[in-house]
Amino acid sequence: RPRVLTTAAELRAALAEQLAAAGPGPVSLGLVPTMGALHEGHAALARAARTENDVVVATIFVNPLQFGDPLDLDRYPRTLEADLEILGGYGVDLVFVPSREEMYPGGEPLVRLSAGRLGARFEGEFRPGHFDGMLTVVAKLLHLAWPAADAAYRAYFGQKDAQQLALIRRMVRDLSFTADIRAVPTVRSAEGLALSSRNRFLTAQEADAALVLSRALRLLTERAVRCEPLDLESAVALVESQPLVQLEYFEVVDPDTLEPLAFNCRETPFSGEALALIAARVGSVRLIDNQPLLAD
Ligand code: PAJ
Repeated sequence: RPRVLTTAAELRAALAEQLAAAGPGPVSLGLVPTMGALHEGHAALARAARTENDVVVATIFVNPLQFGDPLDLDRYPRTLEADLEILGGYGVDLVFVPSREEMYPGGEPLVRLSAGRLGARFEGEFRPGHFDGMLTVVAKLLHLAWPAADAAYRAYFGQKDAQQLALIRRMVRDLSFTADIRAVPTVRSAEGLALSSRNRFLTAQEADAALVLSRALRLLTERAVRCEPLDLESAVALVESQPLVQLEYFEVVDPDTLEPLAFNCRETPFSGEALALIAARVGSVRLIDNQPLLAD
């Protein structure tokens, strides 16, 4: 089992100890922020962090600032014991599990980050304030786990949350954070459903219906690889033919700016520089997924 720290002071002390033990010489630290209810997607982040760093810190905190709907916050799954087991299994050294009071003493913070217009579109349209709250907690976590000026500092995020990833990269650039942001490819079920902590709220029938999202994305990547017209309309129609799925958006965008892109396989650089983004409501759950087009 990894060592569990519940206060910032404990985390700082444990980090100092671990980093000193990893030396002498330059050391590296990998940070894996999560909200718990861990699955194979989170495990992929822990594995990447373990491979690339001397010291690995994971965090588990269900950040109230990024939940607009109090019901969604209340029902967010909490599975701490199983989470620690998983993180231990991947060789994570330290797990920071702060209370709400520890992260936000005296209530919600007055000063917060703003995701700007990159946070207002797509997910931001359906979840106002979500990305401001997300960036605020990620900024705090990056500060709390900061290793040292001469240490390599890497933080791991899933490609699954493409807009979150784009925003964190942008925050790091705009506000001169020193961490190197590493993206980890989306982990899926055998059938193709992108793993998510909220998938457990899907009935078997809904989970089956939800496969249409990854199927529609696959349709686009297949067309892109063959250099055929994307025909997004027919992919939209495929999703809309599934009565249990209410499509919210389905677009091809630039992965950094999330600006809509007129995809052309001959003109778009062939390195996953176009991203198909999809979101839908299935039963009581909102699902998001994405796929780079023409990634190697
Ligand atoms: P959470 O949803 O717990 O996700 C933690 C990390 O796991 C995120 O970087 C997310 O993109 C990644 N992840 C989730 N599902 C994945 C999958 N199927 N494949 C690969 N990676 C996956 O995202 C958050 O928490 C929060 O917003 C957080 C960044 C912790 C800030 O509160």
